[in-house]
Amino acid sequence: MRVLVTGAAGQLGRDTAERFMASGHEVVAAGHQELDITRRDQVLGAIGSIRPDVVVNCAAFTAVDACESSADRAYRVNALAVRHLAEATRRFAAHLCQVSTDYVFSGDQPEPYHEWDRPDPLSVYGASKLAGEQEAGGLATVVRTSWLSGRHGSNMVGTVLGLASRGGPMRFVDDQRGSPSFTPDVAAVIERLCVDRRPGLYHVTNQGSVSWYEFAQKIMIAAGHDPGRVEPIATADLNPPRPAPRPSNSVLENRALTLAGLELPPDFRYSLRRLLAELL
Ligand SMILES: NC(=O)c1ccc[n+]([C@@H]2O[C@H](COP(=O)([O-])OP(=O)(O)OC[C@H]3O[C@@H](n4cnc5c(N)ncnc54)[C@H](OP(=O)(O)O)[C@@H]3O)[C@@H](O)[C@H]2O)c1
Repeated sequence: MRVLVTGAAGQLGRDTAERFMASGHEVVAAGHQELDITRRDQVLGAIGSIRPDVVVNCAAFTAVDACESSADRAYRVNALAVRHLAEATRRFAAHLCQVSTDYVFSGDQPEPYHEWDRPDPLSVYGASKLAGEQEAGGLATVVRTSWLSGRHGSNMVGTVLGLASRGGPMRFVDDQRGSPSFTPDVAAVIERLCVDRRPGLYHVTNQGSVSWYEFAQKIMIAAGHDPGRVEPIATADLNPPRPAPRPSNSVLENRALTLAGLELPPDFRYSLRRLLAELL
């Protein structure tokens, strides 16, 4: 297949492009510089000339707190741009895969959320990403993932390793729960869904769930540091408070993958050890 990856300089974009390349697909990896997905003319021009079989949209405005004060930008990148991608992939008969987020949920439900649970985002980021899911259209694959870490970009694993080596306080909230997910594992499922051109919504996370505090402890242990250095705090005690509210529970059950008989990403502890082996 010929695959166009947008947002290809981001943490998921880089590993997604690598994954398709490693499997022998022809990949056009377009970063923000090469293709601005908010520009309808550029999107139609690029897809019309590259003629990909599949477009994986890893581009997004992902600064959750900044989205609160830049709602127009959030909706332009996370929602309206997906309309352009949907239009172009329809026109040139390519399959679209749109990446979305656990933050489409409010977190009020105590159980993990599955694909048929009703989204009700708390933040501008979550609402704009939900709008992007809707813009992708009924034939697109929509992959909702959560709490991403990988070799590239800034993420929780890098943050904790940095704090561990610099010393100083390590405080993480213990009242927000999710499923840490790893970009190579998510990319592998994206590839599978795109090869099959499967339409519809899939939750794609690593298995297992933790609070941010517990995740920080697990990273410290796996990296050979003292987990006792990590302190739990409540979201209400964050100083300064974060502008965007976050769901207290955004654990995603991968129900559609399970029901379809597809392989799930592994336990997050396995992938955490694999990432640390690469980084350290
Ligand atoms: N990170 C997480 O924990 C997480 C959790 C759940 C879901 N997700 C979703 O996963 C996907 C990938 O996230 P990520 O962590 O890889 O994010 P990321 O590292 O921030 O990458 C996003 C990329 O999109 C690019 N971009 C922004 N605006 C663009 C535009 N108008 N046109 C083209 N490219 C543009 C950014 O470039 P610039 O830096 O130049 O703007 C950046 O390289 C997103 O859909 C995100 O919503 C992420």
